[in-house]
Amino acid sequence: MSMKTGYVAGITRGHNAGVCLLYEGEIVFHVEEERLTRRKYDGGPLASITKILDYTDKVDYVVIAHTQPLHQIDGGVCYSGEDIYTSLFRKLGLIDDLEMIKKHDGYRGHPQVVDLSTIHHKLHAAAAFYRSGFDTAASVIIDGAGTFTPMSAREFGRPDPNGNMPTVITYETESIFDCAYPAKFKTLLKHSGVIENILNSSFDMKMPMHPMVESEEDIFTLMVTDRAGIVKTYEAVTEYCGFTAIEAGKTMGLFPYGKPNEEIARPIFKEHKVLGPYKEKVLLADREMFSAAYPATGVFQNNFYPGFTWFEENEEWTNDTRYAHDKEPNMYDAQCAKDMAYKIQKETEQAAVWWIRKAYEMTGNKNIVISGGYGLNCVANYHYLEELKDLDLNIYVEPISSDAGTCIGAALMFWRYQTEDRKKFPESRLYLGPKYDVDEEKIKELIEHDPAIEMSSASKADVVDIITSKNIVAVFQGRSESGPRALGNRSILYDPTDPDAKDFVNTVKKREFFRPFAGSILLEDAHDWFDMRGLKESPDMMYAMQAQPGKAEIIPGIIHEDGSCRIQTVKEADNYHYYHLIKEFKKKTGCPIIFNTSFNLGGEPLVETIQDAIRTIRDSEIEYLYLPELDILLYAKNPKLAELHSNTFLTKEELNSKGKFKP
Ligand SMILES: [Fe+2]
Repeated sequence: MSMKTGYVAGITRGHNAGVCLLYEGEIVFHVEEERLTRRKYDGGPLASITKILDYTDKVDYVVIAHTQPLHQIDGGVCYSGEDIYTSLFRKLGLIDDLEMIKKHDGYRGHPQVVDLSTIHHKLHAAAAFYRSGFDTAASVIIDGAGTFTPMSAREFGRPDPNGNMPTVITYETESIFDCAYPAKFKTLLKHSGVIENILNSSFDMKMPMHPMVESEEDIFTLMVTDRAGIVKTYEAVTEYCGFTAIEAGKTMGLFPYGKPNEEIARPIFKEHKVLGPYKEKVLLADREMFSAAYPATGVFQNNFYPGFTWFEENEEWTNDTRYAHDKEPNMYDAQCAKDMAYKIQKETEQAAVWWIRKAYEMTGNKNIVISGGYGLNCVANYHYLEELKDLDLNIYVEPISSDAGTCIGAALMFWRYQTEDRKKFPESRLYLGPKYDVDEEKIKELIEHDPAIEMSSASKADVVDIITSKNIVAVFQGRSESGPRALGNRSILYDPTDPDAKDFVNTVKKREFFRPFAGSILLEDAHDWFDMRGLKESPDMMYAMQAQPGKAEIIPGIIHEDGSCRIQTVKEADNYHYYHLIKEFKKKTGCPIIFNTSFNLGGEPLVETIQDAIRTIRDSEIEYLYLPELDILLYAKNPKLAELHSNTFLTKEELNSKGKFKP
């Protein structure tokens, strides 16, 4: 198949939907649907697809990433026999108006549309591997529920009342792949979970999940069990803490407030024998404590621990129910929730270590790439560096570990497969969002009818003066960051040396009181301030690191309850303006690190456009917006801010009594 235009589009269909456009194998842009629609985790990348038209009016191929095949598409197919995405690409003229080919029950496929939904975990692996810079690697994918694959339960099921063996749906939970250029992603070991109560079994699999990238010679070991995978146990505790399953990051933020608790001492993960050819023991979660509700979440059987049951409405508090709590949105305030957050963090870290060790054992490869939802656990990522020191591994954690990254993996894997191109990806940072033209004229036009917003020019030194006078400054420049972390292009900045910083900014951002903040540090100072555990740099903010002795006290605003901080190291070549702004901050304060949090309010996606940015300063208690490329500062005075500031000098208890810390 030849490529005429050089463009390949990848789309992620599910949650964290989005689009990646490649030109001759390099990423032109990547955007998540939520950034354009302003709805967090939004699905169905229809708005993102239309962004492709800003770059090209034709693509050669559309490559689809998801967990279920396109012909089983949510919402069905159109009258034309097409799924909605193929239909939109055709109607926008991006793919040819060709006769569709009949494929499955009424579904008609388009020859330019390639569906890779049957290899979801491999798509995570591909994004991570190509972006890692390694020549070869073993990849470890730890993910909620990857591809859904029906399987006859003949060998491991329990018969139904009529004596029939059911067909069950299996969901990929953990996988190990052997990765090499141009497009080799050989499965070595996979764990898939099922909901039904089955006999935990292993199989020598020969089933190609996609003819493009797998053949019958690719034999691998599949373990099918009725146990919750690592992510599902984490999601179960996340829901127990009062968050939604997709908000696992909040549980990670809560964990340092918990402690080891004897009432829940029984380990969640233990090694077990499974039936079938796999002779080694396998690390699996306790089914009495956790059941997986694939694909959505897991269930923590909290009645297993009498002290951890939810407090029924109207029941009276007694000493015996000291850990119990009503199932409220503020459940995270209860000690039992904090202790469960602690336990799940510690135990899933160890379970992940088991998989990483296994990947090294099976491949002998010291290059390890990690992705899938658990890759976003920056506490675990830092833990691996200490725990796995004995193996002397080179670990790369993919920053776009959520499903948003699977469209990148799909497009890159397909392009490499087509072209057999082996050239390594140029080192790329995460500023992959679509390009916008923002100049002084445009800003003037946008604020013309808004007398509340003042525009002035400002140098980096001026901005540092504003920040050190206890003002929050939002920064907007260049292209938005892919993945969940703001890295200086769509960031909110503050002074990390202010002891009230955390409470103040959490209140302004309307987030829970315990949520930590990150820091951006000049790369040349990073090792003096943080224990980097052998890492040269941390440009993608994927590790929550411990501060060096004596440093935490200087930057209380960004040090979490356990003494850690999520760190972005910044060098001039990565982000010129951000680097020099931090340098200016160091010049004035002696501190080479600036408080950095994502430019959005609680519950909203990261700001994408200049319009989003201006709206946010107009409608919130963030007053300053700095555009470093233009030396422009916008100011939107907010009378409520003075009251908030005075409140930050009250104790936490006083503030709680005023209800200030309730999100
Ligand atoms: Fe995934």
